[in-house]
Amino acid sequence: MGLVSGLEVIDECVSRGLVAGAFNTTNIETTMGIVQAVENTGVPTFIQVAPTNAVLSGYEYIYDMVSRRLASVGVPVALHLDHGRTLDDVSESLAAGFTSIMMDASGYEYDKNVSLSQKARQLTPARYALEVELGSIGGKEDDQGPEREATTDPAQVAAFVEATGAELLAVSVGNVHGYAPDVRIDEELLRQVQQASAVPLVIHGGSGLPAEQLARLNEFGVVKVNVASDLRNAMIRTFGEAYAANPNETSLIRVSRQAVTAITDVVEARIRTLNPKLS
Ligand code: 13P
Repeated sequence: MGLVSGLEVIDECVSRGLVAGAFNTTNIETTMGIVQAVENTGVPTFIQVAPTNAVLSGYEYIYDMVSRRLASVGVPVALHLDHGRTLDDVSESLAAGFTSIMMDASGYEYDKNVSLSQKARQLTPARYALEVELGSIGGKEDDQGPEREATTDPAQVAAFVEATGAELLAVSVGNVHGYAPDVRIDEELLRQVQQASAVPLVIHGGSGLPAEQLARLNEFGVVKVNVASDLRNAMIRTFGEAYAANPNETSLIRVSRQAVTAITDVVEARIRTLNPKLS
C-alpha cells in the first residue's frame, strides 16, 4: 500500500471507532519495530519524527526508510512531521515526501500562533492533515521543554480551529512530554475542549499516562495519541542490558534484533491499550 495521507489515517480511524497511535522514529530498528506492531494489530497509524530527531539523518532518509518498509504493508500509515517549529520545517519535510504535518507555534502568544499555523496551512496540501496546538504541553522532549506551559483554554478552541483550517488539534490538558510522576489527564477540561472543537483531538505525551485513561480517550474525540519516550527507552534499555550482561558483546545484529522486538512489544501493547475493543 505504501504511505497514505494523514487524512486517510484519521478518516479510517474515525469511521472504525479507533484511536491511532503516533510513534516517533529515529532509526531503522525503531521503524521496523513500529511497523511490525502495525501489521500485528491492523490499526491505522502515524509514524513521525520531530526536527530535533531528524537532525541525525535528515527528512529524506526518514522518508526513504519508512516508505520502503511500508511498501508491502496493507495497513494505512502516514508519515508525520511532529512539532514543526518553523515554516522551513514544514516545507522541508513536505519536499522530502511527508504526508502529514504538525505546526507547533504554541510557544507564541495566540495571534502569532494563529498566523504561523495559517501559513503552515497554505504550505500543506489540502489532501494532507495539518495538526496545530493550542495551550502549551509541559515536560521535555529530546531535552527540550516549552518556553511556557499552559492548559488549553476551551473558550479559544472554536475560533482557533476555524482560523487555522487544521484537521487535528493538539491539546494541553494535564498531559506532558516524557516521564513525570503522577501525570493524569484532566478529563473535565478535555470534555470542554472536545465540545468546542470541530475537529478530532491529539494527545501528546502518551508514554506516561495511566492505561485506564488511555483506554477512554476514544470517548473524548481523541483520534491520535503520540508516544515516543517508551520506544526510545526500550531501545536504550536493550543495548544497556546487553552490555551489562557482557561488556565484550560484539553481535550488533543480535542486539539490534532484540531492540526491534522490544519496540514491537511496546508499540503493540500501546495500540491495544488505546483500542480495548480490538480482538
Ligand atoms: P512521550 O515521550 O511522553 O511519549 O511524548 C511523545 C510526544 O508527545 C511526541 O510529540
